Amino acid sequence: MDREKIIELLNQDLSGEIEAILVYMRNATVALPENCEAGHEMEEIAFDEMRHAEWLSDLIVKLGGKPSMTHRELDFGGSSAKDFVRRVVELEREAIAMYKEHIAAIDNEEVREKLQHILREEEWHLAEFEELLEELGS
Ligand SMILES: [Fe+2]
Ligand SMILES: [Fe+2]
Repeated sequence: MDREKIIELLNQDLSGEIEAILVYMRNATVALPENCEAGHEMEEIAFDEMRHAEWLSDLIVKLGGKPSMTHRELDFGGSSAKDFVRRVVELEREAIAMYKEHIAAIDNEEVREKLQHILREEEWHLAEFEELLEELGS
């Protein structure tokens, strides 16, 4: 796979991280008065997503590209803490599917290792949010 294509895939991953950061931070703030645990959990995980965005940006720059810093239209998932957590579960599932696809496609070892590290953290996020959703009575 050529460098340009790897940069393109990493920018797709970066867009997903930026979307997650914005949705988690906004939902954390709005959910906090209704459900403290949900608010704090989303805030804490938003910081992991910021770290992922930084790692991806570093890889893109190292490959000679520019981090695109774009994102899809934001969908916060509804109006209750439970709606918000349901939405972040969806975003984690999408992220996991995309990282798996990109790890399978990319042949650059340094990039693959970093994406595998991120994937393990996304799987942990999903487990945390699913547990939270269960507590909220999905
Ligand atoms: Fe992430
Ligand atoms: Fe995540």
